[in-house]
Amino acid sequence: MRLLAVCDLSKRFGGLAAVDGVSFDVHEGTIKAVIGPNGAGKSTLFNLITGFDRPDVGSVDLLGCNIVGMNPHKVVRAGISRTFQNTQLFEELTALDNVLVGMHTQLRTGFLGGALRLPWTLTEERRARERASYLLRLVGVEQYVMTPAADIPHGMRRLLEIARALAAAPRLLLLDEPAAGLNNRETQSLARTLYRIRDEGVTIVVVEHDMGLVMEVSEEIVVLDRGRKIAEGPPLLIQKDAAVIEAYLGEEGEYV
Ligand SMILES: Nc1ncnc2c1ncn2[C@@H]1O[C@H](COP(=O)(O)OP(=O)(O)OP(=O)(O)O)[C@@H](O)[C@H]1O
Ligand SMILES: [Mg+2]
Repeated sequence: MRLLAVCDLSKRFGGLAAVDGVSFDVHEGTIKAVIGPNGAGKSTLFNLITGFDRPDVGSVDLLGCNIVGMNPHKVVRAGISRTFQNTQLFEELTALDNVLVGMHTQLRTGFLGGALRLPWTLTEERRARERASYLLRLVGVEQYVMTPAADIPHGMRRLLEIARALAAAPRLLLLDEPAAGLNNRETQSLARTLYRIRDEGVTIVVVEHDMGLVMEVSEEIVVLDRGRKIAEGPPLLIQKDAAVIEAYLGEEGEYV
């Protein structure tokens, strides 16, 4: 089933076409990658999908409903969560509390209910903590549950961000360079985590420069270059695609 349909999405910054007529679908239960050289428009694409930026042209349909124009909070409530290229955690809060903050869109309890400690809020709080602990185990950060984010090693912080994004119970998870700064072992563990998340019923779109990870986890790849989609298909075809190889030449060459 088609979960997300991006259609003719375009965004200019002054004279620069950051995203230029990009269309693709994401099917439920799959992992899709978006790759492309630096400045290709990958993060801008995520911003357009998640309401952090508004496209000049085009539509983004989640289960047939156009979400363009929704603010980021509404997009989360509609079922799309994301992480950012640069880690965005509450540094003084523990891993557990970072995930609980991500859950607030889900909880019924408002500030007043929480302050009055009504009986059902305690139940709700307990369930929330259980769910948060579960998500920390799911991504493999359980040993840092009570550690402030500032004291957690880099690789584990990236995973914590994913747990926080999952706290909103999304149908679709967008990850912007989750492997950035991870070593080989951590990247392998990230791949297994992505499979576990997918197996929980969450569809994933991942922007990533680590081609080993991309080729391993993704069923389909969208390739952007200077704002335009230049290729789309399964990893084995993308690796051989002449336009893709051309786009990466003059970059670091080692990518494809
Ligand atoms: N808010 C903005 N204002 C002006 N230009 C922008 C803005 N955001 C992005 N750009 C430009 O749009 C282009 C696409 O940027 P984007 O961050 O989407 O690329 P990217 O594919 O995510 O690159 P990277 O792999 O380096 O993260 C770049 O040329 C960038 O400088
Ligand atoms: Mg980017």
